[in-house]
This record gives sequence, C-alpha cells and structure tokens, in this order.
Amino acid sequence: MSTTEEKPGAETPETPETPEAAEPAQYDEGFGPEIGVGPHPEPWPEDERYDPELLAEGDRRNVVDEYRYWTREAIVADLDTRRHDFHVAVENWGHDFNIGSVVRTANAFLAKEVHIVGRRRWNRRGAMVTDRYQHVRHHPDTESLTAWAAAEGIPVIGIDNLPGAVPLERTVLPRRCVLLFGQEGPGLTDEARAHVEMVCSIAQFGSTRSINAGAAAAIAMHAWVQRYAEIDFPA
Ligand SMILES: C[S@@+](CC[C@H](N)C(=O)[O-])C[C@H]1O[C@@H](n2cnc3c(N)ncnc32)[C@H](O)[C@@H]1O
Repeated sequence: MSTTEEKPGAETPETPETPEAAEPAQYDEGFGPEIGVGPHPEPWPEDERYDPELLAEGDRRNVVDEYRYWTREAIVADLDTRRHDFHVAVENWGHDFNIGSVVRTANAFLAKEVHIVGRRRWNRRGAMVTDRYQHVRHHPDTESLTAWAAAEGIPVIGIDNLPGAVPLERTVLPRRCVLLFGQEGPGLTDEARAHVEMVCSIAQFGSTRSINAGAAAAIAMHAWVQRYAEIDFPA
C-alpha cells in the first residue's frame, strides 16, 4: 500500500482553515499575558519572508521570536535547511490523544518528518498547530512504513518496554533512524514488532506499567538530541 505526504500546513476537517494572522495563539485561554507581538512599527522590513498581514495586525502565533512576522512557508523553508536526521513514527489505530503531543515534540526537536501509521485522521489537539510546520507522511500500516524506510536506507527502531527490548539508556541510536511509538493501551502492535530493527525501552522505577506515549517520545527524541544535535549553550 502506498504512503502519502501531507503538505506542511495541510488542513483537515479537525483543523479548520484559519488565516495566517488568525492562527490560534498558544496561550490564549486565559492562563496569562497575551504572547507574541503587536503590529510592526513602520517602516516595515522589506523581505518576502515577512507577511504583510502579520506586520499590520501583530503576530500571536506559537513561534519562536526569530520567526515573528514570517509567513508559514518561509518558516518551513528555513526549518527545512536544518532539520535533524531522526524521524518520528506513531501508530494511530484508536485516535490516541498522545499523538498531538508527539508531533509537537517532534517539531520542538526538529525531526526530519513525522509518520502517522494506521488511520489517516489523527488527534491533532495536543499538536497546538505545530504540525503546520512539519512534514507529515501517512502510511496505512507498519509494513508500508518499513518499506518506505528501507528504500531510504533508514532503520526503524521501536520504542516500547517489551520483553527483549534493549535499554535506551545503554543504546546508541543511529544518527539516521525512525523512532516508532505505540499507542495507549496495547503499545506497539505485533505487526510493528515484527518489522522493526530493534526495540528500545526506557527505564522505569515505579509501579505503573508504562509512561504515556507522549512522554516516552519526548525522552527518546531527547536521547537522540543529546548525542547528535548541535546545541548553542549560553556562554
Ligand atoms: C502506554 S504505553 C503501552 C504499552 C506498554 N508496552 C504496556 O505494557 O503497558 C504506549 C506507548 O508508549 C511508549 N512507552 C511507554 N512507556 C515506555 C517505556 N517505559 N519504554 C519505552 N516506551 C514506552 C511506547 O511507545 C508504547 O507503545
């Protein structure tokens, strides 16, 4: 079966189209001071990366300051010049609320692409519209994901605390890799387990059987970042 790539910024019935300037702000639910910036003082910067509507009305989107007033296309193009070599994949069989959070973290850690395996429609709520700045690819099943990865020469690493899993804390993840996560409840499917190169577990110490997939994804992505990312530490 074939895989399909969503255009960054693609909309679904779950994320109705909003004009760029009206993209929902992250902290607009009464939790604190309004984020972002108001209208840009004139004269306006002359650069096609800037969005005249945002310059005129202000930019309240959930983007880092260096991208204030930029069009979404310009932001995606800039991110594309420096995306990391890891991919994130997540199984989507039951509309798991964690997927949005996985996508948001994938954006924060600048994953190359996000892969949704299973149902095409996924629960975007926790993504806080970060998916608009990501390349998202859909695969109908794990076999399609692993076939795509094999063609790209990228190993798929399952992340789950399954019998036989190797501790992530003792594993060097490959620089180019797909990190595949399961969903709440069942975890990685048997099909996924059969297709991955290896499975890594995250050490736990308490009574719960597992952490949630969003937390596990953040930990695994950060393991990759700690090893390979160029980090600008403050002097
Ligand atoms: C809530 S877990 C469920 C499955 C789990 N195997 C169990 O026995 O309960 C959902 C997903 O979160 C991730 N996950 C949760 N805890 C993990 C851990 N300790 N190590 C690795 N992945 C974990 C995995 O991707 C897993 O598929």
